[in-house]
Amino acid sequence: MRTHYCGDINIQDISKKLTICGWVNKKRNIGKVLFVDVRDREGIIQVVFISKNNKLFQLAETLKKESCIQVFGEVKKRSCKNINLKIKTGEIEIFAIKLKIFNYSKKLPFDINCSTSQKNRLKFRYLDIRQTKIIHNLKIRHLIVKNIINFMNKNKFWNIETPFLTRSTPEGARDYLVPSRIYLKKFYALPQSPQLFKQLLMISGIDRYYQIVKCFRDEDLRANRQPEFTQIDIEASFFDESKICMLTEKMIKNLWYQIKNFQLKKIQKISFYESMKRFGTDKPDLRNSLELIDVHDLFHHEYIFKNFDIKKHRIITLKIPNGIQLNSKKIRSYIKKAKTKNIKHVFIIQIKKLKIFDYYTQKNIFHNTKEYSIQKIIKRNKIKKDDLMIIIYGYIKSINKICGKLRNIIAEDSKIINPLDWSVLWITDFPLFKKNKKNLFESMHHPFTSPLNENIEQLIQNPEKALSKSYDMIINGQEIGGGSVRIHNKKMQEVIFNIIGLNKKTQNEKFGFFLRSLKYGTPPHAGIAFGLDRITMLLTNSVNISDVIAFPKTTSARCLTTGAPHII
Ligand code: AMO
Repeated sequence: MRTHYCGDINIQDISKKLTICGWVNKKRNIGKVLFVDVRDREGIIQVVFISKNNKLFQLAETLKKESCIQVFGEVKKRSCKNINLKIKTGEIEIFAIKLKIFNYSKKLPFDINCSTSQKNRLKFRYLDIRQTKIIHNLKIRHLIVKNIINFMNKNKFWNIETPFLTRSTPEGARDYLVPSRIYLKKFYALPQSPQLFKQLLMISGIDRYYQIVKCFRDEDLRANRQPEFTQIDIEASFFDESKICMLTEKMIKNLWYQIKNFQLKKIQKISFYESMKRFGTDKPDLRNSLELIDVHDLFHHEYIFKNFDIKKHRIITLKIPNGIQLNSKKIRSYIKKAKTKNIKHVFIIQIKKLKIFDYYTQKNIFHNTKEYSIQKIIKRNKIKKDDLMIIIYGYIKSINKICGKLRNIIAEDSKIINPLDWSVLWITDFPLFKKNKKNLFESMHHPFTSPLNENIEQLIQNPEKALSKSYDMIINGQEIGGGSVRIHNKKMQEVIFNIIGLNKKTQNEKFGFFLRSLKYGTPPHAGIAFGLDRITMLLTNSVNISDVIAFPKTTSARCLTTGAPHII
């Protein structure tokens, strides 16, 4: 039906007669000439109808916005005054010879070229997708998938599917359940990830597996979280941490080069503890140069810090670049954000002539701090004339959390992040366990992650100190992938299950099939999964995950297009 996509026609096609199919984006009737912009997924082109050709002109006059049509015509160069450099095809137009109307369109519930409510957009998603931004995002998503498939195939990975109707896989969320028709009161769980199946495939000798696969997690939704999302899931036998990181780094660098024409720099590794200490988060955006700087050694003469205990507390400074130029309401909001239960003191200070002033009262404070200590504070924080600083004293965990957030807010207000740059890094050596609300151990990643120190006795004695062979990839402050070296020893797997409170009976009930598999010559193996949706968000500059998914759910997990979930 068509010879060309609208957006692909260019000046090389001048004088060609060709056929396009698409939708009426805009119609302008200026008396003797009628201009119709026709749109398809690749772009827009202007079609011209001249009133001399009466029948054709009259038919074109009946067109409505979003009617679906076919045009046969000749490509001509636009006159200089009509050139439109805003669109790819702005130097040419098609003079119509024939017009076929496949379908007129009812007036759309919203104008796809203007903004409308999210509710409307998702209800009429098939129309919303006609919007060039969403179509563009879906095209980039397709290119990413194509690129990943090529990369994995070149590296001898096999694409293997794993089941959706299966047993629960623990990834920290609730399961979506499917009742069985045949087995009364029994359920399948949709996979939170293919974790156990990919490990079983290693035991099978598949050696290198990948899959671009849907995962299902019933959890609180956010701007970068959907209940069903897509992972680029990878597992390899006889790979250690450095080999899997090297391979996937190459994959990501390749992707950024192909899609963005951007050469990512060497990707650095930072341990979890270092990241928490310096940035207050395990997902730092390193385009933001601010760091949480410890200063307890410089303030030890001050009375208000006298109960400082290095095991429990931190006294840190955080720079506010060009702070004196920010409005004071904004700066007051930093104090408000910082002053929470476990924070003892917060000050905004300005250093002038080697004295510390409270920014609000302009009173000289911290009289007992020596001049050389103040010089050190200036040096550690790289303080310049117009900078302010926030000093916070409190419990380590709370300080890290609060300052991690403040660091982002201050960077945004001070506009110190270059939006054209990329921050890519690995966070490694996470704790193996964390304590949950009931004060019980649970796995920080998942319970199949290998401990860094494989001494079982030491692990049992000191689980809270144990680190893991795990790694997350963080881009611009977002976790885009995470994985680990796996346990390939049945005894170690049982020890981990014990520590997280699974007794023998529960272990056998939940993971008996997996523990059994570990007895049959399990190879050492490691893997990772990347969030395809999050990668697409970054590569399309999208702030919401729903802009990169064809039919996303709302933040309350509804599909507005179909009305799911529904009574059966
Ligand atoms: P993890 O749970 O860290 O690891 O998930 C891997 C990556 O998947 C993405 N992701 C999500 N994206 C959108 N919506 C969600 N609800 C969501 N949850 C996770 C993130 C994340 O980094 N089986 C392990 C991987 C492994 O060990 O190999 C796993 O699933 O980008």
